[in-house]
Amino acid sequence: MADRYLSFTGTAPGRFLTRRLGLPQPAPLKRWSERSTSLGGPLLHLTAGKSDLELAPVLARTGLAAGTESGARSGAEKPAAVVLDATGVRDVGTLGEVHAALHPVVRSVAASGRVVVLGAPLDTDDHHQCAAQQALEGFTRSLGKEIGRGRTVNLVRLTDADAAESTLRFLLSPKSAYVSGQVIGIGIGIGIGDGEVTAPAAWDRPLAGRTALVTGAARGIGEAVAETLARDGARVVVLDVPAAEADARRVAERLGGTALALDITAADAGERIVDALPDGLDVLIHNAGITRDRRLVNMPAERWSSVLEVNLASVLRTTDALLAGGALRPGGRIVATASIAGLAGNAGQTNYGASKAGVAGLVRSLAPRALAEHRVTVNAVAPGFIETKMTAAVPLFIREAGRRMNSLAQGGLPADVAETTAWLAHPASGAVNGQVVRVCGQSLLGA
Ligand code: NAI
Repeated sequence: MADRYLSFTGTAPGRFLTRRLGLPQPAPLKRWSERSTSLGGPLLHLTAGKSDLELAPVLARTGLAAGTESGARSGAEKPAAVVLDATGVRDVGTLGEVHAALHPVVRSVAASGRVVVLGAPLDTDDHHQCAAQQALEGFTRSLGKEIGRGRTVNLVRLTDADAAESTLRFLLSPKSAYVSGQVIGIGIGIGIGDGEVTAPAAWDRPLAGRTALVTGAARGIGEAVAETLARDGARVVVLDVPAAEADARRVAERLGGTALALDITAADAGERIVDALPDGLDVLIHNAGITRDRRLVNMPAERWSSVLEVNLASVLRTTDALLAGGALRPGGRIVATASIAGLAGNAGQTNYGASKAGVAGLVRSLAPRALAEHRVTVNAVAPGFIETKMTAAVPLFIREAGRRMNSLAQGGLPADVAETTAWLAHPASGAVNGQVVRVCGQSLLGA
């Protein structure tokens, strides 16, 4: 269902009218395509406090030319991205340098541009430092809500710039158009050690030689994920229910992969995947999901259990089976699909919200162990309002509210979830572990 409001505000009369009425102003987002692979304009590298990060070589490899502060201040060269290294912020005094660095340049950031703030881990005994570092989260999320014009603001906590290269490349590219207001930890967190970070032979085909299985990939977000992983070089296995086999085959044929007709809730689903992939796999994407909405008072047990079975129990079962059987090769990646409904809650979705919060719990507990024991990372994406058949069926007013109630004032596309998944599946994302990353345009629902 086309977003007519977004098209309308793109016209001169539409812009005039909606501004006068104080209505949301969604900006068309610059997304990745074969013809538009970069944000274009220069990148401005700023620092607050004294930093030990070796950031410049990594930023140079993003391919964005270096911008200058004076250029940005005069508006002569609008930066497409600003990276503020605030890892050296240790107290309220040095926190002031965040304001001093960004205040003069933020206005000049190009439309659909990026602000990426870098912070230090919070595991410090110095409560002044911890306060100042946590302050960066409130800062980032607030700036994300006010910056407008399709620009995004995210915070990355890190100790090693090289381990963050895949993340910085993602955030500083059109691939992250719908990711805003996120706090992403690299190589840090409770018990989460540095993972294996393997720079790919070619950054534009990072998954070459790898096999990826995507559940629920016959249509919707899963189809987009399969497409994006195939673009990145993976051999994809398109798994979907037997009733969707024809569609799964069509997707697989287009992508040069194979289809696997299988209901993921089958007790032996794990073994059947292992049988279908005797050489093992590298990337496992748990995307299949269903909704059976009803308020709890009206919800029969069958609606509860079917959602919990598909969205959570089968994710747990197949993950266990593939890890225990050694089917996921070392350096492997598991990406599960949560939802902002699981983080914020949603009326009529006690079953769905429970299942998706459960996915976040699975990630939290399994991530450190899977990395230590199998050298496999475990992360989740949490989509917000994504333009799919599922959301097209939502009644008009609820749909409009879902689309506008985020900092970018529009819905995301399946490709936005797919790009985020591809970043987590990347061989150089081995230090990204135990994260639940929202792809929601900084939805007002939840944190
Ligand atoms: P969709 O309904 O278009 O596609 C889901 C696919 O999963 C279908 O092809 C379906 O046949 C397959 N599937 C369902 N049960 C299965 C089973 N037992 N075994 C194998 N395959 C099964 O859904 P959509 O919108 O593409 O969503 C994909 C994922 O993203 C789901 O996990 C959903 O909960 C999640 N999500 C979607 C959001 C949205 O706005 N569309 C928002 C938040 C999360």
